[in-house]
Amino acid sequence: MDKYVINGGNKLYGNVKIQTAKNSVLPILAATVLTDSSVKILDIPQISDVKNMVRILSRLGCKTQYCDSHLIVDASNSNNYEIPSELAHELRSSVFLLGSVISRFHKAKIAYPGGCDIGLRPVDLHLSGLKRLGVTVTEENGYILCSCEKLTGNEIMLDCPSVGATENIMLAAVKAEGTTVIKNAAREPEIEDLQKFLNYIGAKVKGAGSGTIIVEGVKKLHGGEYLPITDRIEAGTFLIAAAMCGGEICAEGALAENISSLIHKLRENGCKIHIKNDKIILRRERRLTAVKSFETQPYPGFPTDLQAQMTALCCICQGQSIVTENLFETRYKYVPQLRKMGADITVIDRNAFVRGVEKFNGATVVAQDLRGGAALVLAALAAQGKSEVLDISHVDRGYGDFEYKLRNLGGDVIRKTV
Ligand code: EPZ
Repeated sequence: MDKYVINGGNKLYGNVKIQTAKNSVLPILAATVLTDSSVKILDIPQISDVKNMVRILSRLGCKTQYCDSHLIVDASNSNNYEIPSELAHELRSSVFLLGSVISRFHKAKIAYPGGCDIGLRPVDLHLSGLKRLGVTVTEENGYILCSCEKLTGNEIMLDCPSVGATENIMLAAVKAEGTTVIKNAAREPEIEDLQKFLNYIGAKVKGAGSGTIIVEGVKKLHGGEYLPITDRIEAGTFLIAAAMCGGEICAEGALAENISSLIHKLRENGCKIHIKNDKIILRRERRLTAVKSFETQPYPGFPTDLQAQMTALCCICQGQSIVTENLFETRYKYVPQLRKMGADITVIDRNAFVRGVEKFNGATVVAQDLRGGAALVLAALAAQGKSEVLDISHVDRGYGDFEYKLRNLGGDVIRKTV
């Protein structure tokens, strides 16, 4: 188990190159199972969720090969439709494979997915969507069993704009007979990127980003090479880090339109933000003023994946803030850890009531999940004195070369193996 040892108080200066998006690469990896041609995904992020997804693809019989910073996947000889619990429990996006494995084998057996412990995270919308396409679903001993004679296009109305359910249904529909219409679909940029990738390999998908996605079934797909979009959550995490520590950083490759809700809030805090093509420059000189409130919403609302990081920023602003987490039931597990560093936060149901304090004090804290762990790292960088952030395997799931990037910006952070 690794930890970060951090001496806080340094301002951050310089450029940071944003990685390709974890939540775009993962469904794209699932989509490679749909084609018999090899696909090369460029600039694959060096994060454990991707490594675990590649292990699952190998278990399905796909040939996977890293070359430099790229990954080649060839599913032509894949011969297994089962994902065992020890692999599925590693990450939520194992469930995305349901759609593509059913499309290829007309059956699938996948253990209930794992991932961050941030709430119940049911898959009912995934399963009801697949049933609408003609899939028979049973659940036994912690496994989801699916089978179908064939996949037939249909109209599907999602009860809530679930990112994963939208992506799973898209994948199952790509080679179904006829047309599928997904209504109340999620609008995240990663879904538009999945649509772009699918069309690039020969699918016929349109409407991603609009809330209604139309998939016209095709018989065959081909291969090629593809560069996914950059990671808006990583970009937002670094911008918040600079807002908390002070200084001036440039997030390179960051698409401002994909985190406009965050940029709006950081400007409200008093950060100076300049946008130039795919560069976002943030400067913070004086102590920030608290935002009155912010609440997480499906895209284009404030992203739940930046809630913990933004709440950590609120803790050291002048004034009080109210945070509302609307998407996940238990996404405040980092709060007791921030309290150890001197934060004044009270959580009641989905709301966190924050009173700004002058500074965090260094402390030993434990990461509980990916984004909460990132928030603890940011708090330690901004704190007075030394901190240790334990169990950073959670952070490794979504941030590649995190300590190197932070050190290059002036952060005093070292990884140690416990
Ligand atoms: C995706 O998770 C992301 N993960 C999450 O990022 C992100 O927080 C989330 O979307 C919301 O943006 C990946 O893309 C790999 P949802 P997902 O289905 O698909 C409810 C990170 O930190 N729901 O949009 O699991 C669910 O309980 C991770 O990078 C159902 O009720 O999220 C939640 O309240 C964490 N039934 C809401 O929808 C279902 O069948 C949103 O979940 C599915 C979801």
